[in-house]
Formats: sequence, C-alpha cells, structure tokens
Amino acid sequence: MTTDIITLTRGVPPAEAFPTKQLSICFDAALEADAAVVLQYGQQPGYPALRHALANEFAVADAQVLVGNGSLHLQDLVASLLIKPGQVVYTEQPSYDRAISTFRRRGARVVGIPLEPDGISVDRLAAALAHEVPAFLYLVPDFQNPAGATLALEKRRRVLELAEQYGFWVIEDIPYRKLRYRGEDIPMLRELNPARVITMSSFSKLLSPGLRVGYMVAPAELVAAVTKLAEDTILSPVLPTQAAVAEFIERGWLQPNIEKLKALYRPRWQAMAEAVRQELPGAQQYIPDGGFFVSVMLPEDANYQNLVGRAKEQGLVLTPGQAFFADPDDGQPVAGERFVRLPFCAVTPEQIREGVRRLASLI
Ligand SMILES: Cc1ncc(COP(=O)(O)O)c(C=O)c1O
Repeated sequence: MTTDIITLTRGVPPAEAFPTKQLSICFDAALEADAAVVLQYGQQPGYPALRHALANEFAVADAQVLVGNGSLHLQDLVASLLIKPGQVVYTEQPSYDRAISTFRRRGARVVGIPLEPDGISVDRLAAALAHEVPAFLYLVPDFQNPAGATLALEKRRRVLELAEQYGFWVIEDIPYRKLRYRGEDIPMLRELNPARVITMSSFSKLLSPGLRVGYMVAPAELVAAVTKLAEDTILSPVLPTQAAVAEFIERGWLQPNIEKLKALYRPRWQAMAEAVRQELPGAQQYIPDGGFFVSVMLPEDANYQNLVGRAKEQGLVLTPGQAFFADPDDGQPVAGERFVRLPFCAVTPEQIREGVRRLASLI
C-alpha cells in the first residue's frame, strides 16, 4: 500500500494560484468606494462596472451581459428557461459532468455527440439534428472539460450553420479559454456569428472559484429573461465579490495574473503530456494546448475493471469516467469506464509523473 496519496480528480486551482493580497485590496477599495450599492439588494444583472467591463471585452451592449453567482448557476437558470420537460439537449460526449446533471434535473434528455480530437463530431451532430432539434447544444470549445479537446475553426463554422439551419441555441462555455500555453486563439463561436450563441465564462479559473463570479453574454432579450429568473430565485447577486473583480480589472491586474497562472501551470501541463505519452502509449490521448485537463481513452483490451477502486488502493484518486457521459446518440454502450480525466493544475510535476506511473501499472 502506497502512503503518499496523489489526487487527480477535481479541476480546481491550487491555493498558491490565488491572488490573495490583491483581492483583499480590491475588496477594501470596492467597499470604501461604493458601499451603498455593494452592500444593498439590487443590481439584478450584476455589478454595473463589471458588466460594463465585460461588455467592452466582448464588444456588446451592457444589456447583453448578466453576471451571476458562478457560471454553473447561470447554466442552471438558462437550462430551466430553455428546456421543456422531455426535450433533448446535445452535449459533447464526454462532457462536463455537472452540466449534464443540471440539464437532466431541468427535465432534459441529455444526448452526447462523440467528441473527436478536434472537437464535436459535426457529422454525428448533423445526423442527430435530422432526427431531433434540441433546446440547445452545450459545448466547451476551448480545452474542454473533461477531455481537453479544442473545437477546430472549420467545425465552429459548421456548428453555427447548423444552428441557423435548425434554429437552436449554442452554449459556448469557455472558462479555460484564456489559459493557453501554446499556439494561437481560435475565434469564439460568438465572434463568428453571435445570433444563436450564449457565451458563458467565469473568474473561477482566473482569480478564484470561491468568489463565485460567472457571467453570460447573449442577446438582450434572453439576458433579461434569465435575469428575471435569477431575481425570483436569489433575490440579488453577491455584489461585493463582483465589485472586487471589477476593481481587479480596473487596476490592470487581471492579465498579469493570467500570465502568472500560465507560468505556474505550463510545467505541469508539460509534465502531464510527457508522462501520458511515455506511460500510456496504447491509449487514445487528448493533449490540449491549454486549460486544466489531459485525458485518455484506454484501449478496449486494457484492464479497466474497477479502475477507480484499484487506483485508490495504490494511493491514486481518480474520477469515475462514467460521470462525464450522457446518453449515447447511437444506442451503443458508452465507453465511460475506459475514460480517464487527468487534471494537472493542482499537482506538482513530480506528483504527475508518479500518478501516471501508478495508473499505467494498473492497466
Ligand atoms: C466547463 C465548466 N463550466 C463551468 C464550470 C463552473 O464554473 P463556475 O465556478 O463559474 O460555476 C466549470 C468548473 O469546473 C467547468 O469546468
């Protein structure tokens, strides 16, 4: 029994990534400058200065921005607004586990469209659409959670054409987009054609998840409808954290913080990529250019039975792969048991090498 436990489960930033001192200065400044607003009920679509900063960034009107208590909460509100019970929602397969469960809880049948190394299979999406049009398509186009894949430019265009043709919303959820360690940005779906796109993101991965500051950018009518739902649900968003984030941006500290994070995460990403290439050569590997996750699909003849339980005995904590799989689009059994997500940001290169070595020894 190995005693030092290596945890390769949640995609969370490590504590050393938090800009604690700077945030404390920003909280003080925000409270001193605007206590009457920040400590009061109200400002339903979010703290005005933060909405305005985001509107500038995305080149939209302030009315197209809603800032809420984390992006998952906004996803849930959007799901409750758009999904009629029994309606289908398409996701990538695999997809973000909490999105799948949120959509299901709101009454959707969640169907996964296979994910390829360059993003969702557009051919399979087109086939599914010919059969049934969804309430929306949920994508994590940049450095996907859980697989790490990034949606290629040409596929982004085709997804948007299909959205126009069939008339459905596309949620692009992009919390990892700014954490690119290599290569050039690919345009957001919104930049290619914003008409049917709901963009979601948050400051959880760029500042701190505990702040609970996430946002959506969408047509103004949709933002107004979700804002109304939020008001009826939470009465008022948490404004002190939003004001602190606005202050952080105003002071010009966000981009340097992102650069600091990239310097911290890049060696971990390299270590994970190398370890997976060396130790798991027979697996299908997703090595992204950014984000939090490398992943592997183990070969069919690998020993993946009770992998999570056996890994635990070796001091390696893994997330069960099945959680990331929605219903199949073709009726075939899903390959969840063979899928392993490998988050690398909150572990050191040494832990990464040892963790992947342990994984390889089990299969
Ligand atoms: C793809 C994706 N969307 C949304 C979230 C939730 O983010 P937030 O903290 O803003 O609710 C996460 C968190 O891990 C995520 O990976």
